Amino acid sequence: MKIAFFDAHGFEKKFYTNMSEQHELDFFEFRLDEKSVSLIENYDIVCVFVNDHLNDRIIQKLSEQGVKAVVLRCAGYNNVDLEAAKKYDLPVLRVPYYSPHSVAEHAVALMLCLNRKIHKAYYRMKDLNFSLDGLMGMDIFGKTVGVIGCGNIGKCFAKIMKGFSANVLVSDPHIDQEVSAFASYVAIEELLESSDIISLHAPLNPQTLHLIDKDAFSRMKEHVLLINTSRGGLIDSKALLQALKLKKIGGAALDVYEEEENVFFENLSDDGLQDDVLARLLTFPNVLVTSHQAFLTTEALENIAKITLDNINAVKNKTEFINQL
Ligand code: NAI
Repeated sequence: MKIAFFDAHGFEKKFYTNMSEQHELDFFEFRLDEKSVSLIENYDIVCVFVNDHLNDRIIQKLSEQGVKAVVLRCAGYNNVDLEAAKKYDLPVLRVPYYSPHSVAEHAVALMLCLNRKIHKAYYRMKDLNFSLDGLMGMDIFGKTVGVIGCGNIGKCFAKIMKGFSANVLVSDPHIDQEVSAFASYVAIEELLESSDIISLHAPLNPQTLHLIDKDAFSRMKEHVLLINTSRGGLIDSKALLQALKLKKIGGAALDVYEEEENVFFENLSDDGLQDDVLARLLTFPNVLVTSHQAFLTTEALENIAKITLDNINAVKNKTEFINQL
Protein backbone atom coordinates (compact mmCIF):
# COMPACT_ATOMS: atom_id res chain seq x y z
CA MET A 1 0.00 0.00 0.00
CA LYS A 2 1.18 3.52 -0.75
CA ILE A 3 0.47 5.70 2.26
CA ALA A 4 0.63 9.49 2.65
CA PHE A 5 1.18 10.63 6.25
CA PHE A 6 0.03 14.20 6.83
CA ASP A 7 1.11 16.48 9.67
CA ALA A 8 3.95 14.00 10.27
CA HIS A 9 6.18 14.90 13.19
CA GLY A 10 9.80 14.03 13.87
CA PHE A 11 8.89 12.40 17.18
CA GLU A 12 6.58 9.81 15.59
CA LYS A 13 8.35 8.74 12.38
CA LYS A 14 10.61 6.17 14.05
CA PHE A 15 7.54 4.28 15.28
CA TYR A 16 6.53 3.63 11.67
CA THR A 17 9.86 2.50 10.23
CA ASN A 18 9.02 -1.22 10.59
CA MET A 19 5.96 -0.55 8.41
CA SER A 20 8.14 0.40 5.46
CA GLU A 21 8.99 -3.29 4.90
CA GLN A 22 5.37 -3.94 3.94
CA HIS A 23 4.21 -0.56 2.68
CA GLU A 24 5.49 2.51 0.85
CA LEU A 25 5.38 5.47 3.22
CA ASP A 26 5.65 9.18 2.46
CA PHE A 27 5.76 11.60 5.36
CA PHE A 28 4.53 15.14 4.73
CA GLU A 29 5.01 17.77 7.41
CA PHE A 30 2.15 19.87 6.01
CA ARG A 31 -1.46 19.18 6.84
CA LEU A 32 -4.15 17.77 4.60
CA ASP A 33 -6.28 20.65 3.38
CA GLU A 34 -7.96 21.85 0.20
CA LYS A 35 -4.61 22.88 -1.29
CA SER A 36 -2.48 19.92 -0.29
CA VAL A 37 -5.10 17.37 -1.29
CA SER A 38 -4.39 18.30 -4.93
CA LEU A 39 -0.67 17.65 -4.50
CA ILE A 40 -1.02 13.98 -3.75
CA GLU A 41 -1.81 11.34 -6.29
CA ASN A 42 -1.80 7.56 -6.44
CA TYR A 43 -2.01 6.94 -2.72
CA ASP A 44 -4.03 4.02 -1.35
CA ILE A 45 -4.36 5.44 2.13
CA VAL A 46 -4.09 8.85 3.73
CA CYS A 47 -2.99 8.81 7.33
CA VAL A 48 -3.93 11.95 9.26
CA PHE A 49 -3.66 13.50 12.71
CA VAL A 50 -5.76 15.70 15.01
CA ASN A 51 -5.53 18.95 13.05
CA ASP A 52 -5.99 17.66 9.50
CA HIS A 53 -9.52 18.77 8.65
CA LEU A 54 -11.42 16.44 6.35
CA ASN A 55 -14.46 18.32 5.09
CA ASP A 56 -16.86 17.27 2.33
CA ARG A 57 -14.73 18.70 -0.51
CA ILE A 58 -11.52 17.04 0.70
CA ILE A 59 -13.25 13.70 1.19
CA GLN A 60 -14.80 13.93 -2.28
CA LYS A 61 -11.37 14.66 -3.77
CA LEU A 62 -9.75 11.75 -1.92
CA SER A 63 -12.49 9.46 -3.15
CA GLU A 64 -12.04 10.68 -6.74
CA GLN A 65 -8.29 10.10 -6.45
CA GLY A 66 -8.94 6.44 -5.61
CA VAL A 67 -7.91 6.60 -1.96
CA LYS A 68 -9.20 3.43 -0.30
CA ALA A 69 -9.36 4.64 3.31
CA VAL A 70 -8.56 7.44 5.73
CA VAL A 71 -6.63 6.22 8.75
CA LEU A 72 -6.49 8.49 11.81
CA ARG A 73 -3.43 8.36 14.07
CA CYS A 74 -5.59 9.47 17.01
CA ALA A 75 -8.74 8.68 18.98
CA GLY A 76 -10.74 11.93 18.55
CA TYR A 77 -12.49 12.33 15.18
CA ASN A 78 -14.24 15.71 15.47
CA ASN A 79 -12.06 16.85 12.53
CA VAL A 80 -13.67 14.44 10.03
CA ASP A 81 -17.02 14.90 8.28
CA LEU A 82 -18.28 11.35 8.75
CA GLU A 83 -21.49 12.03 6.81
CA ALA A 84 -19.38 12.97 3.79
CA ALA A 85 -17.21 9.87 4.26
CA LYS A 86 -20.39 7.77 4.18
CA LYS A 87 -21.65 9.66 1.11
CA TYR A 88 -18.44 9.01 -0.83
CA ASP A 89 -18.07 5.50 0.58
CA LEU A 90 -14.65 6.23 2.05
CA PRO A 91 -13.92 4.18 5.19
CA VAL A 92 -12.45 6.13 8.12
CA LEU A 93 -10.54 4.15 10.75
CA ARG A 94 -9.09 5.43 14.00
CA VAL A 95 -7.12 4.33 17.05
CA PRO A 96 -9.88 4.18 19.67
CA TYR A 97 -7.69 3.12 22.57
CA TYR A 98 -3.93 3.42 22.86
CA SER A 99 -2.92 4.62 26.30
CA PRO A 100 -5.58 6.38 28.32
CA HIS A 101 -2.88 6.56 31.01
CA SER A 102 -0.78 8.91 28.89
CA VAL A 103 -3.56 11.52 28.74
CA ALA A 104 -4.87 10.98 32.28
CA GLU A 105 -1.37 11.26 33.75
CA HIS A 106 -0.74 14.47 31.81
CA ALA A 107 -3.98 15.87 33.23
CA VAL A 108 -2.67 15.01 36.70
CA ALA A 109 0.70 16.62 35.90
CA LEU A 110 -1.06 19.82 34.78
CA MET A 111 -3.29 19.77 37.85
CA LEU A 112 -0.38 19.38 40.27
CA CYS A 113 1.78 21.94 38.49
CA LEU A 114 -0.99 24.52 38.44
CA ASN A 115 -1.99 23.84 42.05
CA ARG A 116 1.53 23.89 43.52
CA LYS A 117 2.77 26.57 41.08
CA ILE A 118 5.71 24.51 39.90
CA HIS A 119 5.81 26.54 36.66
CA LYS A 120 6.47 29.69 38.70
CA ALA A 121 8.89 28.03 41.13
CA TYR A 122 10.96 26.61 38.25
CA TYR A 123 11.68 30.06 36.81
CA ARG A 124 12.20 31.58 40.25
CA MET A 125 14.97 29.12 41.03
CA LYS A 126 16.69 29.90 37.71
CA ASP A 127 16.73 33.52 38.87
CA LEU A 128 18.06 32.47 42.30
CA ASN A 129 14.82 33.75 43.85
CA PHE A 130 14.16 31.36 46.71
CA SER A 131 11.17 33.19 48.21
CA LEU A 132 7.88 31.36 48.73
CA ASP A 133 5.47 34.27 48.30
CA GLY A 134 2.70 33.49 45.86
CA LEU A 135 3.42 29.76 45.69
CA MET A 136 0.68 28.49 48.04
CA GLY A 137 -1.43 25.60 46.81
CA MET A 138 -4.07 23.33 48.37
CA ASP A 139 -4.08 19.68 49.47
CA ILE A 140 -5.83 17.45 46.92
CA PHE A 141 -6.56 15.05 49.80
CA GLY A 142 -10.21 15.39 50.78
CA LYS A 143 -11.05 17.85 47.99
CA THR A 144 -13.85 17.32 45.47
CA VAL A 145 -12.68 16.54 41.96
CA GLY A 146 -15.22 16.64 39.12
CA VAL A 147 -14.65 14.50 36.05
CA ILE A 148 -16.72 15.45 33.00
CA GLY A 149 -16.71 12.50 30.61
CA CYS A 150 -15.63 9.28 32.29
CA GLY A 151 -14.75 6.91 29.46
CA ASN A 152 -11.31 5.38 28.97
CA ILE A 153 -9.30 8.48 29.90
CA GLY A 154 -11.69 9.99 32.45
CA LYS A 155 -11.81 6.66 34.29
CA CYS A 156 -8.00 6.52 34.58
CA PHE A 157 -7.99 10.10 35.83
CA ALA A 158 -10.79 9.38 38.32
CA LYS A 159 -8.91 6.35 39.69
CA ILE A 160 -5.77 8.43 40.21
CA MET A 161 -7.83 11.06 42.01
CA LYS A 162 -9.29 8.36 44.23
CA GLY A 163 -5.69 7.42 45.04
CA PHE A 164 -5.24 10.99 46.32
CA SER A 165 -8.26 10.35 48.62
CA ALA A 166 -10.29 12.97 46.79
CA ASN A 167 -14.08 12.86 46.67
CA VAL A 168 -14.72 12.10 42.98
CA LEU A 169 -17.84 13.38 41.18
CA VAL A 170 -18.61 12.28 37.65
CA SER A 171 -20.85 13.71 34.94
CA ASP A 172 -21.38 11.26 32.09
CA PRO A 173 -24.61 9.99 30.49
CA HIS A 174 -23.10 6.50 30.48
CA ILE A 175 -22.77 4.92 33.94
CA ASP A 176 -19.78 2.64 34.42
CA GLN A 177 -20.19 0.15 37.26
CA GLU A 178 -16.47 0.13 38.10
CA VAL A 179 -16.51 3.93 38.43
CA SER A 180 -19.74 4.05 40.40
CA ALA A 181 -18.10 1.83 43.03
CA PHE A 182 -15.78 4.67 44.08
CA ALA A 183 -17.26 7.87 42.59
CA SER A 184 -20.66 9.59 42.56
CA TYR A 185 -22.50 10.27 39.32
CA VAL A 186 -24.15 13.68 39.53
CA ALA A 187 -25.79 16.23 37.22
CA ILE A 188 -23.30 18.58 35.57
CA GLU A 189 -24.71 21.55 37.52
CA GLU A 190 -23.93 19.85 40.84
CA LEU A 191 -20.46 18.92 39.63
CA LEU A 192 -19.74 22.50 38.56
CA GLU A 193 -20.99 23.92 41.85
CA SER A 194 -19.29 21.40 44.18
CA SER A 195 -15.88 20.75 42.62
CA ASP A 196 -12.54 22.20 43.70
CA ILE A 197 -10.95 20.77 40.56
CA ILE A 198 -12.70 19.99 37.27
CA SER A 199 -11.11 17.86 34.56
CA LEU A 200 -12.65 17.54 31.09
CA HIS A 201 -12.59 14.19 29.29
CA ALA A 202 -15.74 14.28 27.14
CA PRO A 203 -15.45 14.17 23.34
CA LEU A 204 -16.10 17.30 21.29
CA ASN A 205 -19.38 17.14 19.37
CA PRO A 206 -22.30 19.53 18.77
CA GLN A 207 -23.69 18.69 22.24
CA THR A 208 -20.43 19.36 24.09
CA LEU A 209 -19.25 22.42 22.14
CA HIS A 210 -18.74 25.21 24.72
CA LEU A 211 -20.01 22.94 27.50
CA ILE A 212 -17.98 25.21 29.75
CA ASP A 213 -19.47 28.60 28.94
CA LYS A 214 -20.26 31.80 30.84
CA ASP A 215 -23.10 30.12 32.74
CA ALA A 216 -20.88 27.15 33.70
CA PHE A 217 -18.16 29.51 34.99
CA SER A 218 -20.75 31.40 37.04
CA ARG A 219 -21.63 28.14 38.85
CA MET A 220 -18.04 27.25 39.77
CA LYS A 221 -16.27 27.83 43.09
CA GLU A 222 -13.94 30.83 42.98
CA HIS A 223 -10.81 28.79 43.62
CA VAL A 224 -11.64 25.96 41.17
CA LEU A 225 -8.86 24.66 38.94
CA LEU A 226 -10.07 23.74 35.44
CA ILE A 227 -8.08 21.14 33.50
CA ASN A 228 -8.73 20.38 29.83
CA THR A 229 -6.87 17.60 28.04
CA SER A 230 -9.80 16.65 25.79
CA ARG A 231 -10.62 19.11 23.03
CA GLY A 232 -10.36 22.90 23.11
CA GLY A 233 -13.92 23.45 21.87
CA LEU A 234 -15.34 22.13 25.14
CA ILE A 235 -14.46 25.51 26.66
CA ASP A 236 -15.67 28.86 25.38
CA SER A 237 -12.23 30.52 25.47
CA LYS A 238 -13.62 34.06 25.62
CA ALA A 239 -15.76 33.10 28.63
CA LEU A 240 -12.64 31.56 30.21
CA LEU A 241 -10.75 34.79 29.64
CA GLN A 242 -13.55 36.77 31.33
CA ALA A 243 -13.66 34.32 34.25
CA LEU A 244 -9.91 34.72 34.75
CA LYS A 245 -10.03 38.50 34.48
CA LEU A 246 -12.83 38.63 37.05
CA LYS A 247 -11.03 36.06 39.24
CA LYS A 248 -14.10 33.79 39.01
CA ILE A 249 -11.84 30.72 38.99
CA GLY A 250 -8.52 29.78 40.56
CA GLY A 251 -6.77 28.82 37.34
CA ALA A 252 -6.81 26.78 34.17
CA ALA A 253 -4.46 24.20 32.70
CA LEU A 254 -5.03 23.50 29.04
CA ASP A 255 -3.46 20.93 26.76
CA VAL A 256 -5.96 21.83 24.05
CA TYR A 257 -7.36 25.12 22.80
CA GLU A 258 -10.29 25.68 20.46
CA GLU A 259 -8.20 27.63 17.92
CA GLU A 260 -5.08 25.51 18.34
CA GLU A 261 -4.94 24.40 14.73
CA ASN A 262 -2.44 26.93 13.38
CA VAL A 263 -0.54 27.34 16.62
CA PHE A 264 0.04 24.05 18.39
CA PHE A 265 2.87 21.86 17.06
CA GLU A 266 4.39 24.97 15.38
CA ASN A 267 7.43 26.99 16.39
CA LEU A 268 6.21 30.58 16.25
CA SER A 269 9.19 32.05 18.11
CA ASP A 270 10.12 34.23 15.15
CA ASP A 271 6.62 35.01 13.92
CA GLY A 272 4.71 35.85 17.09
CA LEU A 273 1.15 34.95 17.92
CA GLN A 274 -1.83 36.21 15.90
CA ASP A 275 -4.42 34.75 18.27
CA ASP A 276 -5.30 37.52 20.74
CA VAL A 277 -7.31 35.29 23.07
CA LEU A 278 -4.50 32.75 23.45
CA ALA A 279 -1.95 35.56 23.79
CA ARG A 280 -3.99 37.06 26.63
CA LEU A 281 -4.55 33.67 28.29
CA LEU A 282 -0.79 33.12 28.33
CA THR A 283 -0.29 36.33 30.33
CA PHE A 284 -2.08 34.93 33.39
CA PRO A 285 0.19 33.41 36.04
CA ASN A 286 -2.59 30.92 36.84
CA VAL A 287 -2.91 29.63 33.29
CA LEU A 288 -0.78 26.76 32.10
CA VAL A 289 -0.78 25.71 28.47
CA THR A 290 0.84 22.71 26.82
CA SER A 291 0.72 22.15 23.10
CA HIS A 292 -1.58 19.08 22.80
CA GLN A 293 1.09 16.80 24.21
CA ALA A 294 -0.98 14.68 26.60
CA PHE A 295 -0.69 11.62 24.34
CA LEU A 296 3.09 12.00 24.00
CA THR A 297 4.52 8.94 25.75
CA THR A 298 6.57 6.14 24.25
CA GLU A 299 3.87 3.60 25.12
CA ALA A 300 1.10 5.64 23.51
CA LEU A 301 3.07 6.23 20.30
CA GLU A 302 4.00 2.54 20.05
CA ASN A 303 0.35 1.57 20.43
CA ILE A 304 -0.85 4.21 17.96
CA ALA A 305 1.66 2.93 15.37
CA LYS A 306 0.72 -0.70 15.97
CA ILE A 307 -3.03 -0.11 15.69
CA THR A 308 -2.52 2.16 12.68
CA LEU A 309 -0.60 -0.67 10.98
CA ASP A 310 -3.40 -3.12 11.88
CA ASN A 311 -5.93 -0.69 10.38
CA ILE A 312 -3.85 -0.33 7.19
CA ASN A 313 -3.45 -4.10 6.89
CA ALA A 314 -7.20 -4.57 7.31
CA VAL A 315 -7.69 -2.26 4.31
CA LYS A 316 -4.98 -4.08 2.33
CA ASN A 317 -6.29 -7.56 3.16
CA LYS A 318 -9.95 -6.52 3.00
CA THR A 319 -10.57 -8.04 6.43
CA GLU A 320 -12.97 -6.65 9.02
CA PHE A 321 -12.44 -2.94 9.84
CA ILE A 322 -12.84 -3.22 13.60
CA ASN A 323 -11.82 0.40 14.14
CA GLN A 324 -14.02 1.93 11.45
CA LEU A 325 -16.11 4.95 12.50
P1 NAI B 1 -14.22 7.66 25.47
O1 NAI B 1 -15.15 7.59 24.30
O2 NAI B 1 -13.70 6.40 26.07
O3 NAI B 1 -14.93 8.48 26.66
C1 NAI B 1 -15.68 9.64 26.47
C2 NAI B 1 -16.74 9.68 27.56
O4 NAI B 1 -17.41 10.93 27.48
C3 NAI B 1 -17.82 8.59 27.39
O5 NAI B 1 -17.97 7.86 28.60
C4 NAI B 1 -19.08 9.37 27.04
O6 NAI B 1 -20.27 8.75 27.55
C5 NAI B 1 -18.78 10.70 27.74
N1 NAI B 1 -19.59 11.81 27.25
C6 NAI B 1 -20.11 12.01 26.02
N2 NAI B 1 -20.83 13.15 25.99
C7 NAI B 1 -20.76 13.66 27.24
C8 NAI B 1 -21.32 14.83 27.86
N3 NAI B 1 -22.09 15.69 27.17
N4 NAI B 1 -21.05 15.06 29.17
C9 NAI B 1 -20.30 14.18 29.88
N5 NAI B 1 -19.76 13.06 29.34
C10 NAI B 1 -19.97 12.82 28.05
O7 NAI B 1 -13.06 8.61 25.03
P2 NAI B 1 -11.58 8.72 25.66
O8 NAI B 1 -10.69 7.75 25.01
O9 NAI B 1 -11.71 8.72 27.12
O10 NAI B 1 -11.14 10.17 25.13
C11 NAI B 1 -11.81 11.34 25.56
C12 NAI B 1 -11.34 12.50 24.70
O11 NAI B 1 -9.99 12.79 25.00
C13 NAI B 1 -11.34 12.22 23.19
O12 NAI B 1 -12.62 12.50 22.63
C14 NAI B 1 -10.30 13.15 22.66
O13 NAI B 1 -10.93 14.32 22.20
C15 NAI B 1 -9.44 13.47 23.88
N6 NAI B 1 -8.05 13.05 23.70
C16 NAI B 1 -7.06 13.97 23.89
C17 NAI B 1 -5.74 13.63 23.73
C18 NAI B 1 -4.62 14.60 23.96
O14 NAI B 1 -3.47 14.33 23.59
N7 NAI B 1 -4.86 15.76 24.57
C19 NAI B 1 -5.36 12.28 23.30
C20 NAI B 1 -6.47 11.36 23.19
C21 NAI B 1 -7.77 11.76 23.36
